[in-house]
Amino acid sequence: MPTLQLLRAEHFPAVLAFELANRAFFAARVPDRGDAYFEDFDHRLQTLLEEQNAGDGAFYLLVDGEGHVLGRFNLEFIGDGIAELGYRVAERETGRGVATAAVREVCRLAAESHGLRALRAVAATRNPASRKVLTKAGFLAAGQADPASLDGQPGTRYSLELGRAGQFALGDPTRPDSGHSA
Ligand SMILES: CC(C)(COP(=O)(O)OP(=O)(O)OC[C@H]1O[C@@H](n2cnc3c(N)ncnc32)[C@H](O)[C@@H]1OP(=O)(O)O)[C@@H](O)C(=O)NCCC(=O)NCCS
Repeated sequence: MPTLQLLRAEHFPAVLAFELANRAFFAARVPDRGDAYFEDFDHRLQTLLEEQNAGDGAFYLLVDGEGHVLGRFNLEFIGDGIAELGYRVAERETGRGVATAAVREVCRLAAESHGLRALRAVAATRNPASRKVLTKAGFLAAGQADPASLDGQPGTRYSLELGRAGQFALGDPTRPDSGHSA
């Protein structure tokens, strides 16, 4: 049973393997990070770990029983109880509700473990799977995204207000479809 785990140093090799194995899949959907991203990869992850230890973010991995990374779900704290959510799932795991379930769980953790009051996300118009994940998790469309944040692509900003004690203010995200449209 895969579990969500906060990034730790011992995850670094599995995160690199995940990014390399799925690079072409991700690059077709979100801006590619370029070859430089993979050089000194441990240093980049170490920087994230320090950010996490400093209380500036929470970087969750979905890890299977053999230690393989199946997905990444990042919360970047931007102040005032708000975080930006980003995520990606291994190509071979897609189309089975993995992202939706993990995003819902990360939203719960955002409120209960990190004391956040709202999450923000952006999704490109050309990325219907990501937009579906957000709306199924209870996010609402909140206007046009800055194309600069999506490598020049048009897209939508999304927002989720988190209620107290992990309850969601907007709809019940445990329902198969929260009813919100993109
Ligand atoms: C977006 C991503 C995380 C989705 O992962 P996933 O585990 O397949 O997502 P889920 O299975 O939980 O849900 C995907 C939904 O999108 C739907 N979907 C997939 N492709 C679609 C398409 N081309 N058009 C419309 N809907 C589509 C699926 O049917 C599913 O909805 P359903 O459960 O109601 O049938 C994954 O594709 C990914 O990592 N993409 C690359 C990185 C990325 O885009 N990150 C998001 C940046 S904003």
